[in-house]
Amino acid sequence: MTLNTKTLLLAIFSLSISAAANAQSGENTYKQACVSCHGAGVLNAPKFGDKAKWAPLIAEGQVTLTAHAYVGVRSMPPKGGNPNLTVEAFSDALVYMVNNSGGKWTSPDAKTVAAINKEIETRKAGLNKKQ
Ligand code: HEC
Repeated sequence: MTLNTKTLLLAIFSLSISAAANAQSGENTYKQACVSCHGAGVLNAPKFGDKAKWAPLIAEGQVTLTAHAYVGVRSMPPKGGNPNLTVEAFSDALVYMVNNSGGKWTSPDAKTVAAINKEIETRKAGLNKKQ
């Protein structure tokens, strides 16, 4: 095996490990921070696995939905009521919920995280204007 093939295989291997790690942490974050409301549909939260409820939300797109939920929507508290939750951790928890509710999202890459952060600022500015 040439060095280049080795390097390539190593890169692929670490990529798949990090994808698996994100899926794992998304599930963990969901269980720590989201299941209390989304598991049973408390306060009319879209229930985990309820494809009909999630379809129109998923249709908003990953950047928009993640950003708006992170800022907080009606009875949904900002960051799921967890002030220490990063955008990345929140996103992965949402990916986990979406992928178990009829969607097929992936853990956001750096570019998508940047777009989510931008939309968070836009959303906050818009909400402040309305007050
Ligand atoms: C305290 C209860 C509670 C917790 C904890 C919570 N949610 Fe929610 N969430 C809600 C409720 C209630 C709604 C429905 C809001 C509405 O439409 O009035 C909601 C809606 C949402 C939506 C749809 C937002 C939209 O634009 O309509 C997303 C996405 C979401 N939650 C993600 C999450 C994630 C991810 C977590 C965990 C990190 C989480 N939530 C934790 C109560 C909660």
